[in-house]
Order: sequence, then C-alpha cells, then structure tokens
Amino acid sequence: MKALVTGSSGLVGSETVKFLCDAGWEVIGVDNDMRGTMFGKEASTEPEKKKLEKKYPGFITVTADIRNPEQISEIFQTYAPFDFIVHAAAQPAHEWSTNHALEDFQINAYGTVVLLETYRRFSPTAKFIHCSTSKVYGDSVNELPLQELETRFDLPKDHPKWEGEDESMRLDANLHSLFGASKASGDIMAREYATYFNLPITIFRPVCISGPAHKGAKLHGYLAYLVKCVATGEKYIINGYKGKQVRDNIHSYDLVRAFWEVYQDPNAPCGGFYNIGAGRESNNSILEAIAQAEKLLGKKATVEHSDVVRKGDHKWCIYSCKKFRTKYPNWKITYNNNRLMKDLCDPYLL
Ligand SMILES: NC(=O)c1ccc[n+]([C@@H]2O[C@H](COP(=O)([O-])OP(=O)(O)OC[C@H]3O[C@@H](n4cnc5c(N)ncnc54)[C@H](O)[C@@H]3O)[C@@H](O)[C@H]2O)c1
Repeated sequence: MKALVTGSSGLVGSETVKFLCDAGWEVIGVDNDMRGTMFGKEASTEPEKKKLEKKYPGFITVTADIRNPEQISEIFQTYAPFDFIVHAAAQPAHEWSTNHALEDFQINAYGTVVLLETYRRFSPTAKFIHCSTSKVYGDSVNELPLQELETRFDLPKDHPKWEGEDESMRLDANLHSLFGASKASGDIMAREYATYFNLPITIFRPVCISGPAHKGAKLHGYLAYLVKCVATGEKYIINGYKGKQVRDNIHSYDLVRAFWEVYQDPNAPCGGFYNIGAGRESNNSILEAIAQAEKLLGKKATVEHSDVVRKGDHKWCIYSCKKFRTKYPNWKITYNNNRLMKDLCDPYLL
C-alpha cells in the first residue's frame, strides 16, 4: 500500500509517516521546511525529516512546495496511484498570517487546491484526509456564557455545550484571523471537491494538536513551546484573558488513529467533516498547563502577563467529537491530559 503525506516533517505529517511505515506502507512525503522559514531555526522540521529517513530506509521525502503545480504534478506522475493521501502541509499560525497574508493564503487555500486538483487528475480513488482546523468557525465560541473560575474559563456543567460545540456552528459572520479565513477556504474547497466530484475526501477540524515531535515556537505549537519555556527557563508571555483561556489538546497519535479509522471504512462518506479533539479528557488553560509542566519538570516558570488579547483569540475552545465518535465508536483517546503533558515533558528529563 502506498501513501502520500504532505507536511511530512511536521507534527501531524511525521506522526502519519511513522504510523504508516510501522504498518509496512510505502510512504512518500512532501515538505520544504517552510516551518523553519516562517518561525525560525528552532522551528525547523528538518531534524524530524532526517530522523524519519534514518528510521525508515524506504521512506522518501521530496522537497517540494505545495503551491507549485509543476512540482506536485511531477510527484504524482512519478509515484501515483496512492491508496491514501494525508494533507498536513500548512501555514498553521494565527499571528504569522497577519503580516504575511499572501503567503498564508497561497499555502492554505491555493496550495490545497493545487493538491486537490492534482489528486483528482492522477489518483482519484485514494482516500484523502484534509487537515483543517477549528479556527474555521471563527471566534463564535466567545459568545458562550462562560464563567470565570479560579484557573480557567468554563461553561456551567449543565450547559448543553459543556462537551463542546458541534459541526453545526456557523463558519462566517464572526472574526477568524487571516489564518482562520485561509484555512476555511481550504476546508470549503476540500468539501467541494468531495461532493462535486464524488471523491473520498474527509475533513478534520482539530483545536490544538500536540506531541513531542512538535517544533514548538512562539508563534505556533503552543503546548510544546510552553513546556520548552518551563524546561529551559525562557520567559513565557501570556497574552490576555489572564491565562485562563482553555484549549482542547489532542495528541498527534490519537489524531492519526482517527485518520486510520476513516481509511479503513469502505463507507466513509465523500466530504465527511468532523470536529476532532480530546474534549473533556484532555484540555487545560494556560495557567493549568504551566502548573502541570512545573510539577512534572520540577522547575518554576518565568511568566509575564500581557493584557493584550490576540485579535480573534478564543476564551474557551472545546469542540464536540460526538459526530465522529458515533460513526467510529472504536476510536478512543489514548492520551488524556496527564499522559499528554508527561509525553511533552519527558524528553527534557532524560
Ligand atoms: N498543531 C495544531 O495545534 C493544529 C491545530 C489545528 C489544526 N492544525 C492543522 O493540522 C495540519 C498540520 O499541522 P502541524 O501542527 O503538523 O503543523 P507543522 O507546522 O508542524 O507541519 C506542517 C509542515 O508543512 C510544511 N509546509 C508548510 N508549507 C509548505 C509548503 N508550501 N510546501 C510544502 N511543505 C510545507 C512545514 O515545513 C511543516 O513541516 C495543518 O493543516 C494545521 O493547520 C494544526
């Protein structure tokens, strides 16, 4: 069996490569280390690429840009047909998009269409996973009647959305950030290719994804970066909401297991779209994450509070996976909050 993984050196891409190579698949990766270019040397995914190539001699990474139709077409002409395609290459950061609107839109929207169109022409029977994001819903979650508790914002336990917002949430008439809007464009195009051309494409909308392979940087990879700051003594700046903003954090391994459920399902609907996350099993506020990292690492964090709220930021971000869990009842979270935080901290304790 053969797979194509875009963004193959990044967090989700590399986890997918590992999962498939361990299962004996032939995997072709595409990555151009744009993460290093965007967020600096510390965020470069080149070391992850080298690790994967060393561990899996059959794994091939092609250095190509998803925005370049000739390069992508050449990859398909060389390696297609594929059985499975996971599209995880992206400009993933909210704030970076503010001053890089063209690159952000080219990568997240145009690059996605380049891939979809090439897939349609050269390998249309492959199951295709599109990594979208909960940011496509904009900041509507801030309209919920959140209560300010000691360490977090949260809903009252008897609120019908306590388990999270579902997929019926509106996509527009709210604030997204340019990143959220470019990802919404890619998400809509992926769904359109699925329904218009009847292609087996599935769209996932996670909140925060984490894992030790994440090259955490100030602008992206929040939990990995926070843990790195606590471990190394680097100052961590909390932007707004007193650090009580809550995030759902799914481990990249659990996300890839969700992709796999879809791959194995012969009746997966064309254009199925799902919120995906760890929900009430793994979420924390920034204050809670810092306290957990301090305890696990045995170190005190250096923290600075800024009153400035990031434009379009969410106070509370948990989305319900009921739709996915109902369709795929065998899928379970294997990394709860404690296990995820430990997995992030452990490499610093070696
Ligand atoms: N990490 C999160 O918290 C999170 C949350 C929700 C959704 N997502 C989505 O999941 C997907 C994967 O995110 P991630 O955390 O693995 O990001 P990542 O930055 O770790 O990985 C993305 C990879 O894509 C590569 N890339 C970027 N632009 C490219 C281009 N033009 N051509 C080729 N390669 C390119 C980067 O170099 C990087 O290695 C993205 O679509 C992202 O928007 C991530």
